[in-house]
Amino acid sequence: MRLVTVRRSFTEGECFPLFLWSDWHRFNANCAKSVLARDRDEILNTPNAMYATLGDLTECIAPDDPRYDPAHVDWSIIEARDMGRLSDVAVEDRVVFESPVIDRCLATTDGNHDAKWNARHHTDINLRALERMGRPDLWSRGAVLLRIVFSDHHRHTCQVVLNLHHGRRTAKYKATLLNNLLTKIRHWDGVDVIARGHCHFSGTASEPRVSYDRTFNTLRDKNVFAALTGGYLKTYMEDGSCYAEDADLDPIDIGMQRLLIYPSRHGATLKAVTT
Ligand SMILES: [Fe+2]
Repeated sequence: MRLVTVRRSFTEGECFPLFLWSDWHRFNANCAKSVLARDRDEILNTPNAMYATLGDLTECIAPDDPRYDPAHVDWSIIEARDMGRLSDVAVEDRVVFESPVIDRCLATTDGNHDAKWNARHHTDINLRALERMGRPDLWSRGAVLLRIVFSDHHRHTCQVVLNLHHGRRTAKYKATLLNNLLTKIRHWDGVDVIARGHCHFSGTASEPRVSYDRTFNTLRDKNVFAALTGGYLKTYMEDGSCYAEDADLDPIDIGMQRLLIYPSRHGATLKAVTT
């Protein structure tokens, strides 16, 4: 687990949107590329925007993989003759796509697709892409404990702490996963948000907490959040198929999860955006 601290200056009342972004599955023919590009542009055009990626940004399924089906490949972003250098093409693709917003990224983690690829092919496409974008400091293979410290010009500070991992769980209902995460967050003292990808649901659930201030004279109420970070792999496609369709899965959420952070001298407040 990496422990990462980032710092931001704030003025009272200012909002800092935080985008939790995962499971792009680029190179899959069913990747909702236009929605993905629109979400990237939302990050680019939103004041104070910050984001973290939680893996499976690239499909990483090549002809030597039992899951490979040429009908599932997005041949508009890779030529057949380049399948032998998929790592290089995946790195290049991510750099071109993500470079416009990389200065707003706070942390990244691997997903199961890219991790399996990296292990089998003795490479690290995520680290290579981040190095190419000048931000290898963002890289993490596994979990990240991300602390965002806000301070104003009177040196009042507050913080938001997130536990980020690609996740390993899927379920029929997103409520099942969110309930599991609300149980899991109880093991993590001081964590405000626990976020997981992999399942391709987006959504949040929150639970109240009672805490106290540094002087131990004042009680403080706050909410902690469980978040599922969405994805971009469409279940069904006209005149095509996908492994989700082959497995008779139900349609899934397309997009990312948005949180709004309002730092204050009295502590940070979080709100989840529902879509
Ligand atoms: Fe995944």
